[in-house]
Amino acid sequence: MNRLSIIYSMLTLFFITAVGFFVHFYEQVQANDLKMNEAVTTETPLPKYHFALIGEEMNHDYWRLVGAGAKKREAEHDVFVEYEGPERSNPEEQLKLFDMAIKSKVDGIIVQALNEKFTPLINKAVNEGIPVITIDTDSADSLRNVYIGTDNYAAGQLAGKTLVKDTGGEAIVGIITGSLDNAHHQHRVQGFKDVIEQEEGIKIVAIEESNITRVEAEEKAYNMLTNHRDITAFFGTSSYNGIGIVAAAKSLKRYDDMYVITFDTIDENIQLLEQGEIDAIVEQQPFEMGYQSIETMLDIIKGKQVEDVYHTDSTIIRISDLPNWKNSRDDAS
Ligand code: BGC
Repeated sequence: MNRLSIIYSMLTLFFITAVGFFVHFYEQVQANDLKMNEAVTTETPLPKYHFALIGEEMNHDYWRLVGAGAKKREAEHDVFVEYEGPERSNPEEQLKLFDMAIKSKVDGIIVQALNEKFTPLINKAVNEGIPVITIDTDSADSLRNVYIGTDNYAAGQLAGKTLVKDTGGEAIVGIITGSLDNAHHQHRVQGFKDVIEQEEGIKIVAIEESNITRVEAEEKAYNMLTNHRDITAFFGTSSYNGIGIVAAAKSLKRYDDMYVITFDTIDENIQLLEQGEIDAIVEQQPFEMGYQSIETMLDIIKGKQVEDVYHTDSTIIRISDLPNWKNSRDDAS
């Protein structure tokens, strides 16, 4: 074989190999394109509606129940519920999330309206065509479409009537409230006071805020008990207040004769009720609030007629109610 034919053979071999590679890669690219097209066409379509639900604190059983109720209704509809909130109570962070939800033009916003700072944002959302439902805490003077939650004034009255009945109309009372600035706690305190003021034998001697924490509830109850040694009863307007009050009464060896009424059937409160350290709990319906908020938002969007206030139940649970209460909770789950 002369040099020229060797060069020809090598060039032919090189040409065949190059064509082979080209065909192989071309087929692979085609197959990948096909797969990608299939993936695009089989991807689940986005839900029709996108709602934002903004709660007070994600790391809290009460708000986990609100979320569970909303998610249950979400699963039954063509809707995505973006459930957000600060880990621990932080109204400024809630306001930021609210503002972001408006800017991202969601189809509906469900928000706990803790204080008057929420009103301008509620009005802004509604004026921009985004319906707003207030949940747990209302802003009745705003343009919100609907409020869903406890009648907080009536729940405070209920707590007052229960204390009157259980103490036989004789008590010196201290109040630990979640926050002096938050509308729902203000209403609960007002309802309570309006009942107590009718009673000659009962006097409220102090009110302090716990900033929605166990630690501050305990600290404030401790100081209150040392400054007013005659206190015989406490009203706690927020979930963790009862726990703090019991801890303070225990460290001052005052728990034997102390009457305690507080809010919310979270596990720790139920345990203290069982042990006789909390005497009564005002139960709210957070799951129902979450569930109804999605249902009602869909009705608003579809142009259906809705009531502007939907009050969920609040009831008193004492130790004697616990067997039935536990059975009904097991039936529901
Ligand atoms: C209130 C909620 C609050 C929760 C935890 C409940 O009693 O209704 O607004 O976030 O307690 O503090």
